[in-house]
Amino acid sequence: MSKKILILAGDGIGPEIVAEAVKLLVALRDRFGVDLEMDEALVGGAAYDATGHPLPPETLAAARASDAILLGAVGGPKWEPLPIAVRPEKGLLGLRSGLGLFANLRPAILYPQLAAASTLKAEVVEGLDILIVRELTGGIYFGEPRGVDTLPSGERRGINTLVYTESEIRRICRVAFEVAMQRNRRVCSVDKANVLECTELWREIAIEVGRDYPDVTLSHMYVDNAAMQLVRAPKQFDVLVTDNMFGDILSDAAAMLTGSIGMLPSASLNAERQGMYEPIHGSAPDIAGQGVANPLATILSVAMMLRYSLDEPEAAGRVEAAVGRVLDLGLRTGDILSPGTRRVGTAEMGDAVVAALRD
Ligand code: NAD
Ligand code: IPM
Ligand code: MN
Repeated sequence: MSKKILILAGDGIGPEIVAEAVKLLVALRDRFGVDLEMDEALVGGAAYDATGHPLPPETLAAARASDAILLGAVGGPKWEPLPIAVRPEKGLLGLRSGLGLFANLRPAILYPQLAAASTLKAEVVEGLDILIVRELTGGIYFGEPRGVDTLPSGERRGINTLVYTESEIRRICRVAFEVAMQRNRRVCSVDKANVLECTELWREIAIEVGRDYPDVTLSHMYVDNAAMQLVRAPKQFDVLVTDNMFGDILSDAAAMLTGSIGMLPSASLNAERQGMYEPIHGSAPDIAGQGVANPLATILSVAMMLRYSLDEPEAAGRVEAAVGRVLDLGLRTGDILSPGTRRVGTAEMGDAVVAALRD
């Protein structure tokens, strides 16, 4: 039976980069027999403009009924004046929580051709292959109470709550240990256990889960040190597991190790292994509409989709190899340009990846 993929282009550069991923999916279907069908729906600012809601109920229903979802990006200055409850970003958060996508895998892998594009010295990043496992449906993003209230003095107060249950911590730690078993068997749990009780519990549960994985070495690091270590000596890490907000911040930093935020894909999985796939970057309003955005993070997100949700590991490998070939040819979007390479736009990069697919 063919697999159903829901395409959610979103805002800003979202439609531009998703168009390249769709070209790739069509090529995989027509040339390599990957059995898939695609449907589209609205999310984010585009959905708000059309319906008054960043996650229309029909979009959530279509997402629930699909095998996998591909999302571009949401948000932009146009919608910033809106109340948080109807901002484009709420559409994305609603998909994550509505589908229970608690496990966010963000691999930071350096393509060797891009060592010169990194802002760090080549020897610091060469051979880099780390995986950030970010908790995605809990923590301060979803904790209650939240909001802005007014004190008796008339002063306003902003409130967000960092909260995790043991079971929420346990299941994300379990994902981290399971993937570590397939990799280099090292898990670093990142917390702020010196200050925050919630993450003290996180550390305790990480240790408890680790007892079931005697072959995996567990270490702990405070998040401030982890941010420093990621830029000092990133290759010390194999799998990092952390909460929703720390994972958001650390993965943007890790992206830069690979040359550009335009290179980092992600998979967000639920307990049934249904998945949503998206680049970790945003809608890049500063370059939207110019046809210059890097589509490779989205294309590599398709590879993750093929591997985790569509049971097509060969096709996933094909896509990753095609990206390698295009980089070998010296083609680069503006964000990863380095001396001796040739600048291309979004569509030319997408076409080149499709042309580089091999049997
Ligand atoms: P951003 O990731 O959109 O952009 C940060 C910088 O990286 C910009 O200079 C941008 O041009 C560049 N960049 C990002 N993706 C790129 C690509 N593929 N190719 C080349 N350059 C790229 O972050 P921001 O500016 O903080 O946020 C902009 C909007 O995106 C906000 O509304 C934010 O809420 C939203 N956002 C959405 C997502 C998502 O949908 N998953 C993620 C992050 C931010
Ligand atoms: C990401 C983004 C989102 C997040 C925003 C847009 C809600 O930054 O996917 O990394 O903070 O999770
Ligand atoms: Mn982010």
